[in-house]
Amino acid sequence: MKKAVFVSREVFTEILDFLANHFEVQANQADRVLTPEELAEALADKDGAMVSLTDKIDENLLRRCTHLKAVCNIAVGYNNIDLAACSAHGVLATNTPGVLDDTTADFTWALILATARRLNEAERYLRDGKWDKWRLKQFLGLDVHHATLGIIGMGRIGQAVARRASGFEMKVLYYNQHRLPLEIESACRAAYVTKEELLKNADIVTLHVPYSPGTHHLIGAKELSWMKTSAILINASRGGVVDDNALVEALANGTIAGAGLDVFEGEPSVHPGLLKLTNAVLSPHIASSSKKTRFRMAMRAAENLVAALTNGNPPDLLNP
Ligand code: DGY
Repeated sequence: MKKAVFVSREVFTEILDFLANHFEVQANQADRVLTPEELAEALADKDGAMVSLTDKIDENLLRRCTHLKAVCNIAVGYNNIDLAACSAHGVLATNTPGVLDDTTADFTWALILATARRLNEAERYLRDGKWDKWRLKQFLGLDVHHATLGIIGMGRIGQAVARRASGFEMKVLYYNQHRLPLEIESACRAAYVTKEELLKNADIVTLHVPYSPGTHHLIGAKELSWMKTSAILINASRGGVVDDNALVEALANGTIAGAGLDVFEGEPSVHPGLLKLTNAVLSPHIASSSKKTRFRMAMRAAENLVAALTNGNPPDLLNP
């Protein structure tokens, strides 16, 4: 008898076809985010699941889903999964590292350029029919070329962002929990500094850390006050890494010049203050959303699920 799996959110039909070669598949193609109760019910008799960052996999759920052997996240970030609880219940957990680095780095640059050059604000002005003449001092922005880029979190995505900076002939500073080997530093042309040095010297600060208790509000009022008043902050990592209340205040008071944000505390809710600010460029958690990459993420999760339930050794196992 085939094992049973559940796919918690909409995926490409090719992914369901692939899974159907191996399993009995039930899928929530309607794409409604399930309540914890609904998710627990759907998983109660399943051997495995493909889940998204909108699904919380915690002790409460795992206690009720005694059949479950594998949970495969369609994301590299996995702060929605309690790994210790998975291990305690003998559930293999996986993520999708490596397949979205370049796409996320590309989008980080979209945010950097849009924020530095005030693209969204200028477009809104034009669409609103307010453009009546060319002006010398219209939408004066920040030059990206030759600026100093500060990267906090120098994993695969941070490094991909750094490599792209050489085209803009930028100086690159980075702060990471651990200093990187010299050959990586030189490939990225990046200098290791403290978080404080980075925040005080960078014109553009971009965040690429996972969310954890250790990175909660990594950027708060104190850190924002260290930044230059002309600097911009970019976050395409996770909501909660930045204290959104403090950020709204800093953007409104001119403590920093702008922010480009793809992720938010408590998303999909967005701080109402951010929605009102013209110096914030906002996008709905789409940094990895190219057709090719979102497909690869889903396929990678499906491959992890097949491996987890057939040989117990998925390639992206988080809790060996
Ligand atoms: C990830 O993979 O963690 C991304 O945030 C999903 O969009």
